[in-house]
This record gives sequence, C-alpha cells and structure tokens, in this order.
Amino acid sequence: MTLRTAFTEHLGIAHPIVSAPMGGVAGGALAGAVSEAGGLGLIGGGAGVRGGVEPELRLVRSVTEKPWGIGFLSWAVDVDTVAWALEFGPAAVLLSFGDPMPFAERIRASGAKLILQVTDLDEARRALDAGADIIVAQGGDAGGHSGGNAIGTMSFVPAVVDLAGATPVLAAGGIADGRGLAAALALGAAGALIGTGFEATSEALTSAEEVEALLAAEGRDTERNRTLDIARGSAWPDRYPARTLRNEFLDKWRGRDDELREDTEARGEYQDLAARNDLSAVPVWAGQGVGLVTAVQGAVDLVEAIASAADRVVDRAARMRDVSSPY
Ligand SMILES: Cc1cc2nc3c(=O)[nH]c(=O)nc-3n(C[C@H](O)[C@H](O)[C@H](O)COP(=O)(O)O)c2cc1C
Repeated sequence: MTLRTAFTEHLGIAHPIVSAPMGGVAGGALAGAVSEAGGLGLIGGGAGVRGGVEPELRLVRSVTEKPWGIGFLSWAVDVDTVAWALEFGPAAVLLSFGDPMPFAERIRASGAKLILQVTDLDEARRALDAGADIIVAQGGDAGGHSGGNAIGTMSFVPAVVDLAGATPVLAAGGIADGRGLAAALALGAAGALIGTGFEATSEALTSAEEVEALLAAEGRDTERNRTLDIARGSAWPDRYPARTLRNEFLDKWRGRDDELREDTEARGEYQDLAARNDLSAVPVWAGQGVGLVTAVQGAVDLVEAIASAADRVVDRAARMRDVSSPY
C-alpha cells in the first residue's frame, strides 16, 4: 500500500516523504536514493557555490530518472545561480530562510514546483503571496536552522494548514519515522520533510565521527543557538538560530553571544578546533528527533520503512473506529 496525498499527486511520486536539502549532508547520492525509493530527494544547494553543487547535480541525474529537487538558502543564493541549477532539470526547487520573491517566477516558469519552507505565519503568508506550489511548515523541533520565534511542529503545522487552503503543506521538525509521518498527515499535512532522520544514512555526506555522535544522542542533547554561527563567523541572519548537538564550546559560551562576538581570541581558538573538525566545538546539526536515529541504514530502506510504518499506523487508526477489533 502507498499513502496518496495532494503532494504525491502533484509530484507524481509514490511516498509523501521528502529528504531535506541539508547543506554539506544531502548530495546527489542521498537525493537520488530517496527519489529512487519513491520519495522526493533534495540536494542541499546551500548558498549555491556552483563548484560544490555541480558534481552533486550530475550525480543525482546518474542515480535516478525519477523526480528530484534542490534547495537553496534565499538569503544567500542569487537569481543567476538558481537559473543555472534549473538547467539540470529539477522537478522541484525548495527555498528557505529569506525572501523568495526574486526567485519565484523563474522557478515556476521552468516547470519546477516551487516549495517554500516557512518558520512562522508571516513567512507562510508571504509564501502564499509568492505563489508557492507547496509549503513546508518547519517547527522549532527541527535540526539545523529554524525561526527565532519558532513554535513546536505539532502546533505550527495545523496553523499553516488552516492558512494555506488548497496549497499542500509538508510538516518538518522532529519527524524521523512512520509514526511521525502519520502524525503529520493527521495534522492536515500532505507529507513530511525529514532532515535529521536521513543524516546517518549511508548515502549522506556526514562524517563517521558525526554519525557516531548522532547515534549516541537523544533529543535533550540538542539546543538552539546562535553561538556556533558567531564562532564560525557565519553570515547567517540573526533571526535564524540553529539546533545542534550540545558541545563543550557551547557549555563555555552559552548566554554570552555578545561577548563572543567581540572576543577575537576565543573565535581564533574556535577556528583551530574547527580546522580539525573537532566535535567539541563544531556544530553537528540535529533535531529533537535525533533519539529516533539509532542505526546507519541505506536511504532506500529508510524511505520504505517510514512509508510502510506510516501505512500501518493509518490502518490501525482506521480500525479504532471498529469496536469489535480493539488493538
Ligand atoms: C544537517 C542539517 C542541515 C540542514 N541544512 C539545511 C539547508 O542547507 N537548507 C535548508 O533549507 N534547510 C536545512 N536544514 C533544515 C531542514 O530543511 C529541515 O527543516 C529540518 O531538517 C527538519 O527537521 P528534522 O531535522 O527534525 O527532520 C538542515 C537540517 C539539518 C539536520
């Protein structure tokens, strides 16, 4: 059985499952595997550095002929780079974190679906104004960057669904298995976008040390902070903190962001640790669902496992109405 939704119909795919466009983690191998399995795989295009993105675009096309897509950071990418990526034939382009208006028409004119990830209701209204084909409602449970005023996925998704009317909504943040997908559908979403759940797949570009840290972590080991972006000297806008695993650098600097901004010596020490990819300092982006990630597995197996488990949950829920067959 497959779960058919407005989203799967829109894209012509089997499962309402999307792998997030995780910069530095989701390359062509992961996106291609998710798409091959019947979901929608998204390459993490990040700020759109073409030299890094092009091999991944070539790779995804060698892995699958099914629909795939790419995501960019609206605050960092430029219109020409998005136009360049469209020439590779993505079925969808996802934009997050910033103003989608400069890109929207170009993307839709190419025939690719315009997917806009939003972190609050103001962004959701702007996404509708921009003509989004699909909206991703990202709650504060999410791994990686999220909205400064973000609320939990459970509360945010139905609010966006109510606002979006006929536009399909995907839920994001804290969803890592079939139960989470079924819950997203119950909230009125037409599918789920999953990041952290795919970080420890064999196709992800995650390092062995990061995988080990992710497998050992629980939801309480994550926290939202600006601190590591300040330490990195990253240009991320202040209004988007990031959820990462806790680490020693955070323990030292928690609550002292302004001080860290001024402390060149401390930022120099961070750079030394970062040069060795020392996980006591560098961000390992992870959402509150990280405790559900307990083993490395192939992305095809993971998509199939999530889809079939969600199907079982929906089936079980339907049978709750039949008093003669309690479970
Ligand atoms: C490692 C990692 C990197 C991410 N990078 C990006 C990114 O480059 N662009 C983006 O739009 N979202 C990014 N995200 C956020 C995802 O799009 C998505 O909202 C999030 O993963 C959903 O929550 P979950 O991690 O709990 O599944 C990233 C998330 C993670 C975990």
